[in-house]
Amino acid sequence: MDFSLTEEHIMIRDAARDFAQTELLPGVIERDNAQKFPESLVRKMGELGFLGIMVDPKYGGSGMDAISYVLIMEELSKIDASASVMVSVNNSLVCYGLEAYGNEEQKQKYLTKLATGECIGAFCLSEPEAGSDATSQKTTAIDKGDHYILNGTKNWITNGGRAEVYLVIAQTDKHKGSHGINAFILEKGMPGFDIGPKEDKLGIRGSDTHTLQFNDVKVPKSNRIGEDGFGFRFAMKTLSGGRIGIAAQALGIAAGAYELALKYSKERKAFGTEICNHQAIAFKLADMHTEIEAARMLVMKAAWDKDQGNNYDMSSAMAKLYASKVAMEHTVEAVQIHGGNGFVKEYHVERLMRDAKITQIYEGTSEIQKIVISRGLIKG
Ligand code: CAA
Repeated sequence: MDFSLTEEHIMIRDAARDFAQTELLPGVIERDNAQKFPESLVRKMGELGFLGIMVDPKYGGSGMDAISYVLIMEELSKIDASASVMVSVNNSLVCYGLEAYGNEEQKQKYLTKLATGECIGAFCLSEPEAGSDATSQKTTAIDKGDHYILNGTKNWITNGGRAEVYLVIAQTDKHKGSHGINAFILEKGMPGFDIGPKEDKLGIRGSDTHTLQFNDVKVPKSNRIGEDGFGFRFAMKTLSGGRIGIAAQALGIAAGAYELALKYSKERKAFGTEICNHQAIAFKLADMHTEIEAARMLVMKAAWDKDQGNNYDMSSAMAKLYASKVAMEHTVEAVQIHGGNGFVKEYHVERLMRDAKITQIYEGTSEIQKIVISRGLIKG
């Protein structure tokens, strides 16, 4: 067993850290305040290969492994989780979904543009009445021979307004339950495809979250992903990889808050000494560091499972469940260590605390991760 990173992994991690410090950090508070999408950074992230990290270079990707992906996600998330969720969705839901399950024509047409950042993608599963209960899809896709007609609503869609390519899950035959669901590739601008207003959110406020509406949208059959009825399994398989990305995001949020808290505690004085010298603070730092390291091990294990070709349904769920809990608990502690300054925007930790919450909700709530883990345990 070797816990050390390769030289290439260290280079990739350092490049992401440098990008986060020099490009994401300036303006991150303003983007959060104004709910502004990091538009100018999309192109730069595309140039660095951050938008198609694991995609085969023949489709314009960086051809890196999942370990590299989580290293990049952790570093970006330490600074700006709004930018990192855009990266995560594009990489592990949209690019991976197309590369693993799309046909050659679909990959040529869409994947290359998505992997290079020429455009970005969105993954559209959640609905007003189908969040955790994802098989209860109300969006319909009626088979009309050479095309489908889509009707319905999707909620809380990351990159919803900014994306140009949308992977949309819809019910074709409700009598077949999860086997009657399909996944389709939609393009922005298709007649009847409308983008609703941007959501006003507690956290990741710079990310672009919208409701989408489909009113008799005509989608060619060639835009269906996989065999008829594959859509639910497509969503589940793709989400298993997505959960590794969100676990790494949660890890980055926790680690970013911890690093700020450690630095602050070595500078801030109270009762005649730096506050890190008080056991009340020192023990908080010890707990934070220990649990963040444990989360990192789970995130790395899930990424390693993916790289090895092992099943990663359970390891990704465990990584996300634990890393998101650590992110929520320890960003609260980071605010506490900062005292009054922690409540003020310029110290960054209050934003990280607000950003942490969503990691316990999207790409499957913590309760859903426990369903996945416990079912895996029982199945053996
Ligand atoms: N791989 C392959 N097949 C799978 C699978 C997987 N990981 N998980 C389930 N399936 C199959 C099952 O084997 C079953 O097939 P059979 O009928 O042939 O046996 C079928 O799919 C239905 O599965 P279940 O009976 O387990 O379905 P369920 O209704 O009990 O739901 C669930 C399972 C795990 C709760 C699922 O609904 C789920 O994951 N819900 C959460 C959805 C979610 O994560 N949403 C996030 C939205 S995306 C997002 O947030 C993106 C963003 O923008 C950030």
